[in-house]
Amino acid sequence: MSPDPTILETPLLPGLVLQNPVMSASGTYGAGLEGNQFGEVRQLGALVTKTVTPRPRAGNPPPRIHETSGGMLNSIGLENPGVERFLAEDLRRALELGPPIILNVAGESFDEFASVVERVQGCGAAALEVNLSCPNVQGGALPFATDAEACESLVTRLSAISDLPLFVKLTPNVSRITEIAQAAEAGGAQGLTLINTLLGMAVDWRRRVSRIGLGPAGYSGPSIKPVALRCVYQVRQVTRLPILGVGGASSAEDVLEFLVAGANAVQVGTASFRDPLAALHILRDLEILLTEDGSTVRQVTGTLRLPSELHTR
Ligand code: FUM
Repeated sequence: MSPDPTILETPLLPGLVLQNPVMSASGTYGAGLEGNQFGEVRQLGALVTKTVTPRPRAGNPPPRIHETSGGMLNSIGLENPGVERFLAEDLRRALELGPPIILNVAGESFDEFASVVERVQGCGAAALEVNLSCPNVQGGALPFATDAEACESLVTRLSAISDLPLFVKLTPNVSRITEIAQAAEAGGAQGLTLINTLLGMAVDWRRRVSRIGLGPAGYSGPSIKPVALRCVYQVRQVTRLPILGVGGASSAEDVLEFLVAGANAVQVGTASFRDPLAALHILRDLEILLTEDGSTVRQVTGTLRLPSELHTR
């Protein structure tokens, strides 16, 4: 059954209206090509591709993934084939799948970010997601996502060379995410993605070793949803930019929580490792829940009120 567009239609930006608010999260669904073997990926609101960098990256030493009771740790280290091969192979085929592509890019320096953003102009993607926040490179998040000044200067430089809208992906591993979000907006970001993984760790005490090759790693999954919701809610108080919420969403109820808290669309990440059709199942259930509620995506987005506000009326 095709989703009813009037219920699910999701305007992000002028010229970027999605058929629904459910999309893949970068790094969890490749470029959508494998998922398409299992279900109709074309039904998704958008596909967000794994980070590409100017040059190929081999990634981090194993083990790179460890499942925990409430989610998983990853330390992939931005393994990717480099932008040239990505554009020639994966992106070309991903564009044929149908949904708008949000192309996730990163670099290790101002110049590297600028070179990859420049290279992907005109590639057919609908927008770029600028990954300022991978926790698994250079021993921690790059300063662009933790230092407001560095964030603003980088985004200013990238905005000047990009005709594609920039969604800046931020880390929750900061004291005040609102300051970084405002810096990204001041630099010209046209949207934000909140949040990347939390820094975590797992230990095998018998062997006295970390369960991930490099020790600290990115923590994702259902247990980080409250942190992600808090970040979306706080950032929504300080900006009108579209927000792509991400962090532990594994059901249509979760997606609605993100929308109510202020996200405009929601990325499904870790849930896809358990069920490659998770995003499609969520989409189906979302339409059912909204129909039962008699509301639309547009109507529920950003409607959160605090109980304290209700009581003072
Ligand atoms: O290790 C990784 O490739 C993770 C990337 C990210 O969280 O952005």
